Amino acid sequence: MTSSSRAQVGIVGAGPAGLLLSHLLALRGIDSIVVENRSRAYCEARQRAGLLEAGTVELLRAVGLGGRMDAEGLEHGGIYLQFAGERHHLDFRDLTGGRWVTIYAQTEIVKDLIEARLAAGARVEFEVSDTGVTDLDADQPVLGFTDAAGTRHEVTCDAIAGCDGFHGICRDFLPPGLIRVAERGYPYSWLGILATVPPSTDELIYSRHEDGFALHTMRTPQVSRLYLQVPADEDLARWPDDRIWDELRRRLSVPGWELKDGPITEKAISPMRSFVASPMRYRRLFLAGDAAHIVPPTGAKGLNLAIADVTLLAAALTSLLREASPELADAYSDSCLRRVWRATHFSWWMTSMLHTDPHPDPFGTELQLSQLRYVVGSRAAATTLAENYTGYFPLRW
Ligand code: FAD
Ligand code: PHB
Repeated sequence: MTSSSRAQVGIVGAGPAGLLLSHLLALRGIDSIVVENRSRAYCEARQRAGLLEAGTVELLRAVGLGGRMDAEGLEHGGIYLQFAGERHHLDFRDLTGGRWVTIYAQTEIVKDLIEARLAAGARVEFEVSDTGVTDLDADQPVLGFTDAAGTRHEVTCDAIAGCDGFHGICRDFLPPGLIRVAERGYPYSWLGILATVPPSTDELIYSRHEDGFALHTMRTPQVSRLYLQVPADEDLARWPDDRIWDELRRRLSVPGWELKDGPITEKAISPMRSFVASPMRYRRLFLAGDAAHIVPPTGAKGLNLAIADVTLLAAALTSLLREASPELADAYSDSCLRRVWRATHFSWWMTSMLHTDPHPDPFGTELQLSQLRYVVGSRAAATTLAENYTGYFPLRW
């Protein structure tokens, strides 16, 4: 038996993009349903981003989601850039006229959002299967899914948002031939760990080392997060805990500084890719976040872009559905892509400057070192990095 129902907006994916979109639409009096194929516990525990641009923090505050973030988030006014055995500090507040970033884990944003949506009585369906979109050429597309209990549902919507991440299904529902993909692969991955040990640094350390990139970031004053560049097809089994700490210690070392280690509670390898699909819309199906674009994490942009997309999408859907005014919906894809391409360039630039090539040549190595010396030696170059890192084009809500 199939259960039929209606929602103004059908949202596929309960990641940060889908959940925030549902929250923003509710603030404008628009109802939505969110369908997610994983469990709530899985979504709340999936380790990913940690760094929020100032504009993302301000947006979350403005829409009533700042409580725990303001109490527990860690505000940073800069980063360390390390290469050739020396560590240099970039002071973002000084370089950008006061801008900063915040460390607050994606897991915590997702928990805050799920709690807020459920407290408001929203329909969020976890552990669904066979999600699909039909009737896209009509004004009322239909979102189909099978719920956790096995009942098939068809939800007639005024619009559908594909917020289902890079491996989601919505992108494939746009007509073949419409979507243009621009992408780059990188010949390395990141091995990321979470460790129960206080961070050995007050701000993030991005280190270029001849044996590969390393990053020291954090989650809380008690929990550190660290990453190592590893070969693209690396097997996690080759990285026992002791080998990870030895490699981190080597790649992050500078005289007089020590990396504290502790129990590793989580270990995973993430591939690196740049990917942009455009346009991000076909009729009443809109893509947002990783469903439309991904960047390598060296620039810390993916989550920030997902939040920027749905902020624009919520405004566009509000004018489309409440005032029958299509201008913002028509401009949605181009407006997002401007920010996406800036972040795509920045993420590619940070990645290429800081990672070592598996087959290094002296020309490429010297260009990287020259670029790094320029960034730490020229206020103009440092400002370029700081402005991109802390975020551009303010988000309006
Ligand atoms: P996702 O978080 O992928 O959510 C999509 C959801 O859709 C998932 O819950 C998925 O289960 C669900 N789904 C998929 N298919 C279906 C289906 N068929 N039906 C129903 N549901 C479905 N970004 C930053 O800004 N700052 C950082 O510091 C940062 N660090 C990162 C570090 C690493 C190691 C990685 C891997 C990423 C990092 N990112 C960072 C990127 C960031 O995590 C992503 O860009 C972000 O998760 C995108 O959110 P999203 O909601 O678009 O997609
Ligand atoms: C993180 O905290 O996980 C993080 C921070 C900065 C990055 C990537 C990841 O560039």
